[in-house]
Amino acid sequence: MTIAEIKTEFYNAITNCKTVSELQDLKVKYLGKTGELTAVLKSIKDLPAEERPSFGAKVNELRKEMESCFGQRAELLKSEEMQRRLREEKVDISLTSYPRRGALHPVTLVEREICDLMIAMGFEVLSGPEIETDYYNFQALNIPEDHPARDMQDTFYVTDSILLRTQTSAMQARLMERKNPPLKVVCPGKVYRSDSDASHSPVFHQIEGLVVDKNITLCDLKGTLEYLASHLFGANTKVRFRPSFFPFTEPSVEVDVTCSNCGGKGCSLCKGTGWIELLGAGMVNPVVLENCGIDSTKYNGYAFGIGMDRVAMIKYGIPDIRLFFENDQRFLKQFSK
Ligand code: PHE
Repeated sequence: MTIAEIKTEFYNAITNCKTVSELQDLKVKYLGKTGELTAVLKSIKDLPAEERPSFGAKVNELRKEMESCFGQRAELLKSEEMQRRLREEKVDISLTSYPRRGALHPVTLVEREICDLMIAMGFEVLSGPEIETDYYNFQALNIPEDHPARDMQDTFYVTDSILLRTQTSAMQARLMERKNPPLKVVCPGKVYRSDSDASHSPVFHQIEGLVVDKNITLCDLKGTLEYLASHLFGANTKVRFRPSFFPFTEPSVEVDVTCSNCGGKGCSLCKGTGWIELLGAGMVNPVVLENCGIDSTKYNGYAFGIGMDRVAMIKYGIPDIRLFFENDQRFLKQFSK
């Protein structure tokens, strides 16, 4: 290569050079011990003696020119790289202070929806303590100590007689003791059981319904639940009662609704049955009324307890109850309206 060729090639290469490390490589390529310019300088020995001084001078001139180019280019690239890093690695300390829009928790959405529907039917909404006495959680509800029905609800005890309520039914006796019939109340809230898997959480949410009045029938209960289910899951939703047992209701029923996913044909959500078990209910056991000082020959009533997490899982197609308690923003913000 001639000096002129090297010069042209060098200028092209250096203008295309984008990083400090590329520039370093280029410097080795031209000015290094085995570099292009060094090779040209070595070829001086093949020239006639009289041409050597001027040739040597030209090469040295080019070397100086290149060195100064490298210097300038290096400065430029370094400052560009610094600018880029400042841009890219900038920590935006204002980020967390953005007022981000929150969303209501899916269980809160369900709770509000159910309460609104119950209020429309004339129910009051009340709440009660989560740390409860054994009396209200069990004994007043016709579940004495050592009653086998206690096995169904693995209980967190605080002391021998104080516990984390296992059911919002604990509110039934509190309500009946405090107020004379007629009573028409729902009590939403947290309940606790020592249980944990994809469909059980140690804390979950129920809403208790309690009606005490004269001449209440199972039909009133069914009508109320049909109204509720058709608004929660769609107008065509059907409700069915299956016989069950709870010490505080007699008769007791397990209530199923037609699967909102398949409309009752059978799918994986309802395990092919077309029905989804939703809640426990029944006519208030006269023993419970009497425990609370209500004359069971004059008054009767019904009660029901709905698992609100379960309603939310069905309504929103959520496969694992634990998602409700992880507080993962990516999960929660999907429910913002
Ligand atoms: N408390 C019951 C449960 O948690 C549900 C229920 C409430 C049953 C009211 C009957 C009446 O399983």
